[in-house]
Parts: sequence; C-alpha cells; structure tokens
Amino acid sequence: MSKDFETIIKKYKSGRREDLIPLLQEIQDDNGYISEEVIVKVGCFLGLSTTKIYGLATFYDQFRFVPEGKIRIRICNGTSCFLNGSRSVINKIKEETGIRVGQTSRDGNLSYEIVTCMGGCNNGPIITVNDEYHPHIRPEQIPDLLKKLRYIIEND
Ligand code: FES
Repeated sequence: MSKDFETIIKKYKSGRREDLIPLLQEIQDDNGYISEEVIVKVGCFLGLSTTKIYGLATFYDQFRFVPEGKIRIRICNGTSCFLNGSRSVINKIKEETGIRVGQTSRDGNLSYEIVTCMGGCNNGPIITVNDEYHPHIRPEQIPDLLKKLRYIIEND
C-alpha cells in the first residue's frame, strides 16, 4: 500500500460512511485503481463491510478494481458525444475486445472506460488512447485501431 494512501485516509474521519465515495475517488486518483487491500482497510476505517463497499462502488462506473491496461482507452459518453453515436463506439469496443467497461484484458494489455465530456464536444464522438485524442471516431474504425494497438504492444 502506498504511503499516499495513509496521507489520504488521514483527511477523513473514521466512521463517516458518507465519505466512502470521495475517499475511494481520491485513492483511485492516486493509485489508478482500488485494490482489495484498500477495500478492506477503508471498510475498517468507515465501519462498512467489504461487500457493502463493492456494492456501492460498482454502482459508479468510474471505479476500477484492477490496474489499467498498458493501452488505456477512454470513450466520451457525454451528451454531445452520445448524440453523435458514442454508444455504438462503446458497443464496438466491447464486441472487439470481449472485455467490459472498467475491466482489463487478461494479458494486462488493454482496458477501457467511459467518461463524461472531454471538452471537445464539436468533435465527437471522441476517444483517447493513452491520452491521445481520436476525434469523430466511428465504430467501423475500431477494428483497425485495435489491430494497430496490438501490433504496437507486441513489437514494443
Ligand atoms: S460530450 Fe464528449 S467531448 Fe463533450
């Protein structure tokens, strides 16, 4: 567990269950994901069972319980991107990768998640691949994009 975890948790009061979500958000921002060890420790701190924490946290799309992949795709599903077809892009990525939102492929190479508004609404739907923007992305571009990404990983 990182030293930063101890620093973060000190900012919160023990037993205040309403602090769960902001606390998990801060931990994830620091560490990239929420480990099982963290869940147990947060549970002891707030007086919540691990089952309860998982139950509440999985309600929110933004929490990850495994580390991100080497390639991290973020798909904007904000209002503008949604109206421009982000849902079909999400579905295509899901279909092509066989993994669900917030998961990481078994080989640890790829993960993707859904975010809301990246600030480029006129260029939607937008995705980022390791923070590189891909505006006006269409579902039919996804197979080629994934093929290129896999090639890059295999030859890295
Ligand atoms: S809604 Fe996607 S960039 Fe704003």
